[in-house]
Amino acid sequence: MLREGLLQYWWMLYRHSKLLKQRTDIFRNIEDSFTAKHGDLCLSAGSVYVDIGSGSSPVPTFLYQRRHAKTYATEMDRKYLDRQKSYMEMLGLSKRDSFVAQREDATRLSFADGSVDFVTAISTIEHIPGDGDIRAMAEFVRVLRPGGRLVVTVPTAANYIENQLTFYYAGFERRYDAAALQSRLFRPELKIIEQLYMVSPSPEFLRQFEEAFAETLQGANWSDVWYKNGWHDEYPDVSILLTLGLIRLSEDPAGSFGGCLAFEKQ
Ligand SMILES: C[S@@+](CC[C@H](N)C(=O)[O-])C[C@H]1O[C@@H](n2cnc3c(N)ncnc32)[C@H](O)[C@@H]1O
Repeated sequence: MLREGLLQYWWMLYRHSKLLKQRTDIFRNIEDSFTAKHGDLCLSAGSVYVDIGSGSSPVPTFLYQRRHAKTYATEMDRKYLDRQKSYMEMLGLSKRDSFVAQREDATRLSFADGSVDFVTAISTIEHIPGDGDIRAMAEFVRVLRPGGRLVVTVPTAANYIENQLTFYYAGFERRYDAAALQSRLFRPELKIIEQLYMVSPSPEFLRQFEEAFAETLQGANWSDVWYKNGWHDEYPDVSILLTLGLIRLSEDPAGSFGGCLAFEKQ
């Protein structure tokens, strides 16, 4: 994370999350920092930023307070729109601020063509069934101005998978292999400017780790054990140790379990 210029964003987001009374997460430590880094590079007071499927994310309010762009935290789910509105209250933002939480469907955005400078979708479009992810990408291209930027983060795997339900998300989720990333998310109007994939540490390191924690892991995958035991809620401050210790970053999707993609519209 240090080499990729992400660690300083993790630290700022960690402190921001504390203000919002939200936990940090082993994978979001990377995805959110990657997103914040790109937002920091392209947003300013005159620009427009739209986050898609904001959920409980600290990123929209973080970037708003840093860059003061007109910011839209958007969602399909009212519960999460209320969550983003509660963040406004916690941070002392009012209706006079240029921060709006509003309902948007990623596949049918209300924004005009070429009206947005920065779009982000953090772990969102993999949850839209059918060709929803492809339609969302077309919408992101439509609303972005030429030169505007897009950050998308998604889970990846050796083979393309669609799950109707997982133990960590009560709904549809797909994981992308390298071919699906190309065919579903990459588009001729979008130039890739950075791609970072989350991969396991070396087999020897992982073997030593699994041996040291054999009693805890009982042969299961370390991240499954973390989530299934609810330790992500109980011990969230430990998440950065797991992120730094057990996730390597690579520019190659081979063997990865998650990807962060930053594009620029041509
Ligand atoms: C796994 S959560 C991620 C939330 C947040 N981006 C984060 O980083 O924690 C996925 C979110 O996508 C939202 N979502 C699902 N389908 C959507 C759609 N068609 N348009 C916009 N948001 C959608 C869900 O309501 C959910 O909050």
